[in-house]
Amino acid sequence: MFTTSSNGVRALLASATLGLALLAPAANAHAGPVKDTMKEFKTDFGAVMQSKTIGDFNTALAQLQAATAKGKEVQYGKNPAAWKQGMTELDASLVKVKAVADKGDLTAAKAAMKDVGAVRDKFHKMLGE
Ligand code: HEM
Repeated sequence: MFTTSSNGVRALLASATLGLALLAPAANAHAGPVKDTMKEFKTDFGAVMQSKTIGDFNTALAQLQAATAKGKEVQYGKNPAAWKQGMTELDASLVKVKAVADKGDLTAAKAAMKDVGAVRDKFHKMLGE
């Protein structure tokens, strides 16, 4: 009786261990360049919106543009076409924001960032994020 239940416990532990081993690569798939890109986007987007001068706005915007250029090189295995399109639309929206910022009005420049947020939301929805 004791032996039987102990075997049962062992079998349970073995299958739990196997289950964790199988889950580990799935969890790792969330790490890496895609996530790093998004962390950088989040930081830069926040810095843009919190800027107190048009100079700071432009500095943070340039960082977000650089991160987008890098993002174009990142491979998103699940849906490469959507990723590429997303980076292209993000880039285009940032070029428009830069044109507004170049006029020197910080409030207008921040308002123009609404389109960038819309691109973000569109692709997060499309990719189920
Ligand atoms: C400035 C615009 C954007 C910002 C601020 C932003 C921010 C974020 C944040 C904070 C996350 C969560 C990351 C985490 O789990 O740690 C995320 C996830 C994600 N975003 Fe974005 N994003 C932006 C634009 C985009 C665009 C344009 C695309 C599509 C090309 C995209 C695709 C994704 C994907 C695929 C994930 C899931 C990453 C993963 O956990 O594997 N994002 N984003």
